[in-house]
Amino acid sequence: MTIPGRVTEYKSKEYWNNRFHNEDSYEWLGSFDSFATEICSLLQPNFSILVLGCGSSSLSFELYERGYQHVISIDFSDVAIENMKRRYAAFPELTWEVVDVRHLPSVFEDHLFDAVIDKGTFESLIVDEGDPWCPSETAKEDVHLMLSGIERVLRPQGFYFHVSFMQPFFRARYLRRFSSEEKENPYSLDLVSVRNIPVGLGYYLYIMSKMV
Ligand SMILES: C[S@@+](CC[C@H](N)C(=O)[O-])C[C@H]1O[C@@H](n2cnc3c(N)ncnc32)[C@H](O)[C@@H]1O
Repeated sequence: MTIPGRVTEYKSKEYWNNRFHNEDSYEWLGSFDSFATEICSLLQPNFSILVLGCGSSSLSFELYERGYQHVISIDFSDVAIENMKRRYAAFPELTWEVVDVRHLPSVFEDHLFDAVIDKGTFESLIVDEGDPWCPSETAKEDVHLMLSGIERVLRPQGFYFHVSFMQPFFRARYLRRFSSEEKENPYSLDLVSVRNIPVGLGYYLYIMSKMV
């Protein structure tokens, strides 16, 4: 594993490409098993599922193993995507594409997906947030591009599963509609539930749904 010299490198494609040249498999925040019960209770087998920033995680394959055949996984690292295509070549139903999460509407049709899953990718996007009480403009703009894109590609009542190590106090400003005076989330995505997952140092599963 290549530890970056500065945390903001987690936002750079070059960092991730270098890392995936040497790293075959790494699971950020915890395995799918630790939150699969909640997610699978809301997913139908015929759902179209988009996995954001798949990296070298086995989450997409584990969804497939549980019977979800329509899974598209994206990452902005072409090295990650090539690695995953090679690793799962025997499973052509799984689709891997190089896409930046800030550009979803330019790649996917509106309302294409029933569910979007993000484990640790939002985190990479806001490493330049700075003071969490007063986030940087670049972090806010990137969050806007990502969340407005998710809103567009999700069908009404579709789900956005957001897995993060960030406590609700700081994450709610982005995910709960009109949670703060700054109105960071003007989207039709609303927070349905938050669960603490006591694995490792602990992390959180945020479940959001797109209102009609
Ligand atoms: C913290 S890792 C999480 C990887 C994987 N989801 C997991 O749970 O192990 C963040 C991933 O997001 C990808 N990523 C970061 N910024 C991205 C962006 N703007 N668009 C698409 N992928 C991005 C990185 O290449 C990396 O694979």
